[in-house]
Order: sequence, then structure tokens, then C-alpha cells
Amino acid sequence: MYTVRKVLDDLYYVGANDHRIALFENIFPIPEGVTYNSYLLMDEKTVLFDSVDWNLGKDFLRNVEGVLDGRDLDYFVVHHMEPDHAGAIEEIILRHPNVQVISSEQGFQIMRQIGYHIKDENAIIVKEGDTFSFGKHEFVFLEAPMVHWPEVIVSYDTTTGTLFSADAFGTFGALDGKLFNDEVNFERDWLDSARRYLTNIVGKYGPFVQDVLKKASTVDIKMICPLHGPVWRTDIPWFIDKYDKWSRYEPEEEGVMIAYASMYGNTEYAAQALASALCERGMTNVVVHDVSNTDISYLIADTFKYSHLVLASVTYNLGIYPIMKNFIADLEALNVQNRTVGIIENGSWACTVGDKMEDFLDEHLKMFDVLNERITLNTSLNEANENDLNALADAIIESMKNIREVKEKSGEKEA
Ligand code: FEO
Repeated sequence: MYTVRKVLDDLYYVGANDHRIALFENIFPIPEGVTYNSYLLMDEKTVLFDSVDWNLGKDFLRNVEGVLDGRDLDYFVVHHMEPDHAGAIEEIILRHPNVQVISSEQGFQIMRQIGYHIKDENAIIVKEGDTFSFGKHEFVFLEAPMVHWPEVIVSYDTTTGTLFSADAFGTFGALDGKLFNDEVNFERDWLDSARRYLTNIVGKYGPFVQDVLKKASTVDIKMICPLHGPVWRTDIPWFIDKYDKWSRYEPEEEGVMIAYASMYGNTEYAAQALASALCERGMTNVVVHDVSNTDISYLIADTFKYSHLVLASVTYNLGIYPIMKNFIADLEALNVQNRTVGIIENGSWACTVGDKMEDFLDEHLKMFDVLNERITLNTSLNEANENDLNALADAIIESMKNIREVKEKSGEKEA
């Protein structure tokens, strides 16, 4: 039990760090690793909350058995059935055949779909508002569908004010010995990973995250134990505010992400020229990404972060460069909303990409405001584009000012 950490006097972290997988869900790069969190409550009854990916099963089981120290496991709460948390369920049941498994009805359905053997007499189905006592600790269970799968439940320990939040409030990143948010510099080292995790995995389901936040606002949360990343015991309102913004598709910061698709560097040069023009005007919160060598999950995360997006693309097969097309299709899939967009287009003989991108945004994305000022390159940026470059930079700055004024006015009204 060498990787066990004490969360509270009778609550232990028994999860595991994964540095071996390169791609989470076989799609998202995680150079920073990931944790699969699991918790064990040693009350009058013993209660395990979730398991881990089977790859880390050996370490996890060693932790669980170490903390149990000969006691049997009485209850096993399964909040979420995705295999990064459900991978070791069968092994726990084999080792503790009398354990009572607590989950949602759909949770049990998925367990059986996977092929886990749960006897009916060992299955306790919980619904919204059901309560349970494990001794000193009283729990209430709440449904949290689509955060991140439909079967998800979260639970709240009314005795200690601890929310077991399933995937909500999780993040990519291995903890490597640390456990609590105040043991890391979260804003500096973890926030980008948390944003990339939430926006790519649950981004589509913002209204469902809002439902959970509403439920969370009715109780006094002193600690959050998520299924990935640090346990939160300080600055909880700060992190909840981030989740609130991401799930309402509200930009976190006034700033510009320029995403460019360039074959030989000419469109890239125009993207850099716009970045320089913005910085010359005092807007230095600007990031520039090459869509061809930036994993799409980072593009999505920065789209959620910044208020303004500039799409710069070459024309390809009389349409949108495929990698750029994939990016804006993912914006639609993830339901991203409420951004101001500038366009830079390039075409050496038949430039169509600007109209195609604008049409796509108009037809498929909600509240995407495309600026009229556009830069059209005929192969390469030159003096003929200078006015358009300045006009687009000015329009971005102007629209930021307008958005700020509207916000300030609505803030005044609310006050
Ligand atoms: Fe971390 Fe949806 O599983």
C-alpha cells in the first residue's frame, strides 16, 4: 500500500497513475499521464468508490487489500462504467463475493453488457436522492447523466461535505505522489490539462454539466473527490467557476487563437503578420497554432479558452484544407458556441476556402459571429493585403471592446 494517501481520517486514496498509455481513449495524447482515482472508506462498513483501468489493476488491488488489512469489503459504489474506472470491477467481486454493488440501473446494464457477473442479490440500484448510511457517514446519490456517459451517478457524503464527482472536476495529468490541489500549482501546471480534458471529453454536454453544477450549488461542498486528477479541498469555487464557463461556452479570457493551415508557409506568414498586428495594437493574449502539427484536442481547448478565433486556410481541392475541415467539424461535434471569428483565405487560382469556412460556421455553429473584414491572399501576403490586414486586426480589437461594454452593462444591470 505504498501509493495510498489519506484523504480524511477514515477515507483513503487507493488509485493509480498511468504513464504508459500515449492516448487516452485511444485518441487524446496525454504526455502528462493520467490518474484513475479510487477511494476506500473505512467506516462501520467498508466502502470502495470505483476502480481503475485494468492496466493498473495490480497496483490498485494491492492498495485496496492493504487498507482493508483483512477486513472484507462490504460495499462497492460504481459511479461510472467507462473502463478507465470499471476495469477492475470483476476482480473486486471475485475477491469479495459478498460485496454489495451500488450503481444506477443503467450502470448495472453496462456491467452486464461488458460481461461482469453481478448477482441480483448483490446489486443495489440507486436513483436521484436515494440515501445510504455506512455507519458514521451518510450519503446521498444524485444522477449525473452525460457527465460523461448516461449511467453516471455522483454521491455526496453529508457527514463530511465530500462530493464524489465521477469524471466531473477531473483532469489529465498523473499525480505522482501528490494528491490535493494545494499540493500542486494547479493554475500554472494543471489548468491547461483540465481544460483540454473537460472540453474534449464532455464539451458537447455543457447543459448536463450545468445540471450537476446546479445540484452542487445546493449543498456545502468541503471537498471534491473526482475520478481523475487532484482532490479539491481549497479554492473549490475557483474551479467550479472554470467548469461553469466551459459548460456555458463562455470564453475564459479575452484573447485570440489563430489556427492556420499552410502548405508552404505563405498562409502561415499571414497568420503571423496578423498576430504581430494584434500585438502592435496592445492585444498580446494571442496564440498561433499550425493545425497540421497541433493535436486537435489542444485546438479545441484553446477555442474554449479564448474569445476570438481566426481561421487561416489554403484552398484545397476547391474547398477547405482537410485538416482545417476536421477541426471546424470537431467544433460542431463539441457544440462550441459564442465566438467571434476572423478569416484569412489563400488560393493561387480559385480561392474558395473563405466562403466555405464561413458557410460552414453559419450553418453548423451557434452564435459564431464572423467578422466582415477578411484577408484574401493570392498565394502570398503583399502590399495589396496591407489594408485588409489592418482592417481585420482593428475589427478584432473593436469587437473585443464592444463585447466588454455589453458585459459591463449587463453586470451593472444585475448589480
Ligand atoms: Fe474517466 Fe468517462 O471516464
